Amino acid sequence: MAQPQSARPIGMFDSGVGGVSVLRDAHALLPRENFTYFGDNAHAPYGTRTEKEIRALTWRVVLHMLERDVKALVIACNTATSAAAPFLRKHLALPIIGMEPALKPASAYRSYGAILVLATETTLRLPKFQSLMSQYGEGAVPTPCPGLVELIEQGEFDSPALHELLGKILAPYRGTRVGAVVLGCTHYVFARKAIAKHFPTGTPIVDGNQGTARQVSHVLKERGLLRPPLPNGQAGTIAFATSGDAKTVIPFMRKLLRGE
Ligand code: DGL
Repeated sequence: MAQPQSARPIGMFDSGVGGVSVLRDAHALLPRENFTYFGDNAHAPYGTRTEKEIRALTWRVVLHMLERDVKALVIACNTATSAAAPFLRKHLALPIIGMEPALKPASAYRSYGAILVLATETTLRLPKFQSLMSQYGEGAVPTPCPGLVELIEQGEFDSPALHELLGKILAPYRGTRVGAVVLGCTHYVFARKAIAKHFPTGTPIVDGNQGTARQVSHVLKERGLLRPPLPNGQAGTIAFATSGDAKTVIPFMRKLLRGE
């Protein structure tokens, strides 16, 4: 018997392990759903690549997802969304959910000081972010973080090297009143505690993960694709794949999913 449409997995991808931070929130919100996650670790980081390169890489991921018969595609990556979402929407009939730096919710803290938007160079350069800035950018400071994704891919979430790099990136803002910090790259969510140490206690550190999870739920509901409760209360499954070294990357992804 063919499986019902709603039992097909939700495809989710990122340049590497960063999107697992989105998967964690989406799985918590939608525990019955099946997920298939792909990390393009062999080609990470995306954040220093051109739009054209990212589109080509993303298309290879899409072919992997189509083979797995996904019912929706989540681009769990701000950089890939900026570079490829319109292109993917043009060529695919699937619902596609993308991400953007959470500048809109963070702008509520504008009166307390600058809103630092930490993201990749590519995310900050492309028109999607420029248009976000034109709507919510008052008091926002785009802050590229070269090298940060590479350290996080190595599992360095709170290491001396990570703090040294953050110290350099954030040096220009020392002494500036900061209203909030936006984690505009899904990798950075894993370094949230380390990033918070560079700001006064209580500084809001905002990411777009829960908003994205809610959007996935909303889109699936709208299309009648949400998986109904199963008779035995069973949870969905999560499959991982990578273009990198599966022997090391997949156990790492599973650890991140468990929050370890
Ligand atoms: N995790 C990604 C993002 O949200 C991509 C980082 C990268 O590969 O440079 O932007």
